[in-house]
Amino acid sequence: MLRLRQISVGILLSAATLLSGCRLDMHAQPRQNPLSRSDFFADQRSARPPVEGTVARGQLHADTYFYTGKIGASPGDYLPFPATREVLDRGRERYNIYCAPCHSRVGDGNGFIPSRGFARKPPSYHIERLQKAPLGYFYDVMTNGFGIMSDYASQISPQDRWNIAAYIRALQLSQNATAADIPAGQKIPSEPPTFGDIGTGATFPSRTKPSPQAGEQTGEHK
Ligand code: HEC
Repeated sequence: MLRLRQISVGILLSAATLLSGCRLDMHAQPRQNPLSRSDFFADQRSARPPVEGTVARGQLHADTYFYTGKIGASPGDYLPFPATREVLDRGRERYNIYCAPCHSRVGDGNGFIPSRGFARKPPSYHIERLQKAPLGYFYDVMTNGFGIMSDYASQISPQDRWNIAAYIRALQLSQNATAADIPAGQKIPSEPPTFGDIGTGATFPSRTKPSPQAGEQTGEHK
């Protein structure tokens, strides 16, 4: 008895499957193959351009300062986020990868690549003009390039471009700091080291005399 019921259920199921295969209504839909001709649109193209003003997901870029470094037509002079230790650390890391080969680790323009015949030596970041240049200017140079220097828009994210700009500011301060810049109550940790070979950007400067805390301040980013 049970067996007979099983068989009839089986027959019913396979009949249902076979019969449903005969319907065509949802299977032959009116559609266009990619880039095929259409008689519906005046320009006969079935592929339609996106509606004007369409913004791809994640590309709204509403914060124009963050993405251009400019307020109106001129570069702004502030970071679009707080300058934390992490921002400067990340900026230093990215700077040493992308910029130091030409601009050198201290930013004086004596990098390795210009020393091997690159067409032009970059200017030092410590000249007065660049000392006074607003932060957004550095962002803009990275975004759009400058003179014979190509842009880094595709290699370095907007966030990292700002991180680098912040670190360049720190480099500039570091080369022009005075005793007055030290917060009250803090001591200068060591005698400033004197350098023999200034290094190339790919190599560290060599010291002529070891500073009292040598080893602590190798400049190595951990
Ligand atoms: C391949 C070498 C090279 C690399 C890498 C490079 N630069 Fe430059 N940079 C140059 C040269 C050369 C100039 C001068 C261009 C000129 O005057 O035509 C320059 C100029 C500049 C200037 C000065 C613009 C001015 O107003 O004089 C800034 C700022 C700058 N670079 C920032 C950066 C930053 C930030 C990075 C890293 C993201 C970077 N550069 C990477 C070669 C380089």
